[in-house]
Amino acid sequence: MKMGNCSPNPLKEKPQFLFRKVLPKSFYAVLPIALFLLYFYYSSHLTRPPAGEFPNNTPVFIPSSVSSPPRHKGDRKFNETPCDYTNGKWVPDTLDPLYNDTSCGTIKEGRNCRSHGRPDVGYLYWRWKPRKCELPRFNPSAFLAFLGNKHLAFVGDSMARNQLESLLCMLASFASPTLLYSNGDDSEFRRWHFPSHNVNISVYWSPFLVKGIEKHEGYNYNQLYMDFVDERWASDLGLIDMVVLSIGHWYLHPAVYFEGDRVLGCHFCPSLNHTEIGFYGVFRKAFRTALEATIQRKGANGNDIDVVVTTFSPHHFEGEWDKAGACPKILPYEEAERVLEGMDEEMRRSGVEEVEEAKLSAKQHRGKIRIAALDVTKLAMLRPDGHPGPYMHRFPFSNGVQDRVQNDCVHWCLPGPIDTWNEIMMDIMKGWRDQSKDGG
Ligand SMILES: *[C@@H]1O[C@H](CO)[C@@H](O)[C@H](O)[C@H]1NC(C)=O
Ligand SMILES: *[C@@H]1O[C@H](CO)[C@@H](O)[C@H](O)[C@H]1NC(C)=O
Ligand SMILES: *[C@@H]1O[C@H](CO)[C@@H](O)[C@H](O)[C@H]1NC(C)=O
Repeated sequence: MKMGNCSPNPLKEKPQFLFRKVLPKSFYAVLPIALFLLYFYYSSHLTRPPAGEFPNNTPVFIPSSVSSPPRHKGDRKFNETPCDYTNGKWVPDTLDPLYNDTSCGTIKEGRNCRSHGRPDVGYLYWRWKPRKCELPRFNPSAFLAFLGNKHLAFVGDSMARNQLESLLCMLASFASPTLLYSNGDDSEFRRWHFPSHNVNISVYWSPFLVKGIEKHEGYNYNQLYMDFVDERWASDLGLIDMVVLSIGHWYLHPAVYFEGDRVLGCHFCPSLNHTEIGFYGVFRKAFRTALEATIQRKGANGNDIDVVVTTFSPHHFEGEWDKAGACPKILPYEEAERVLEGMDEEMRRSGVEEVEEAKLSAKQHRGKIRIAALDVTKLAMLRPDGHPGPYMHRFPFSNGVQDRVQNDCVHWCLPGPIDTWNEIMMDIMKGWRDQSKDGG
């Protein structure tokens, strides 16, 4: 299926974005440094998972029941195990993506790999094949029908935005939305409306989910208040029917963490007199705070909400981050080539386990609050070929191959592998719909 005629396209970003080289809120500039610090730090001490948890690269197998808990026995409909999409492989595909770099105007500069001169296109022709089932193709009109009369909000960091833009581009191949508003530096808060199904889709910038002060000039640490949800999104919960939470990479940065009015500790803060506590614990706590606030506020009013937590998306920097090919692979990994372990697995598990906890807590609201992990860490790990790399900038090699170029091996090209996240999300939503039809 090809993209329809989409112009004049309301998704189009203001022209100045196209030429702005340095994006103020982007963490490109600090990311490589942070990663360097992280790995330096990671390999020395403290943030390494406790010995015994990952003994000598032994593969860590998470039982599939973590992501798809067994249904009640004897319940006819729920006897079928839902598709476990977390294990599988990328297989070659022949169909074009639903959109391309010119058909969808909302792609953030920097993810628009084709138009920035990325020469290879092979990375566009892979499909995720779960081991025991088929993942249905994304269907924009069905997706909008599932969402009918609802408001879906993406909340988190630039990965949340990456997933949102993928979704908007796929939906725009069926129906063009109108932009309701765009606020904040670099359009951090935006909302679109799809009149055909009375659907609203929005994005909220909240890289910690909890209340936080991003590092700024003169203060080189993020400050996070772990027991307060970030009201920039949470105060709108009354208007939100479905929320996708997606955070991760901002937690790798140097930070000071607060709980109540005391300092809990910090991460990578050698110049401050605080205890190093790493970021795994607070990352988990961020989900807990966000999910509890969501359950409490929606539950208190007897309102419905569907919550999806997108799990951590691994980066693929290889070698030196500022060399021309910092993520030079142009093929996915075979399943057996890579084991999910270390930080990627720890971050993933925080999300998945907090979702399981939250499901228990949501039970008292009898099906009105549904929560699922969008467990993409492993399938993302297998796609080193899907990042912008040097093509985060326009034609990075137009003056010959430079010695040093900035690379983005964290975000995903659009179109690209992240389209699959939304395909899986659609399947989760379909499962929810079938379940409620069944009176479950
Ligand atoms: C992108 O999609 C548009 C609309 O379908 C089409 O006209 C255009 O040729 C496509 N561009 C490329 C490079 O395929
Ligand atoms: C979408 O947003 C508009 C403008 O804020 C609002 O009037 C409308 O009720 C919203 N629709 C849904 C389904 O949330
Ligand atoms: C650092 O903290 C320790 C323990 O709380 C305290 O004894 C020491 O005076 C502090 N040092 C500075 C420079 O604040």
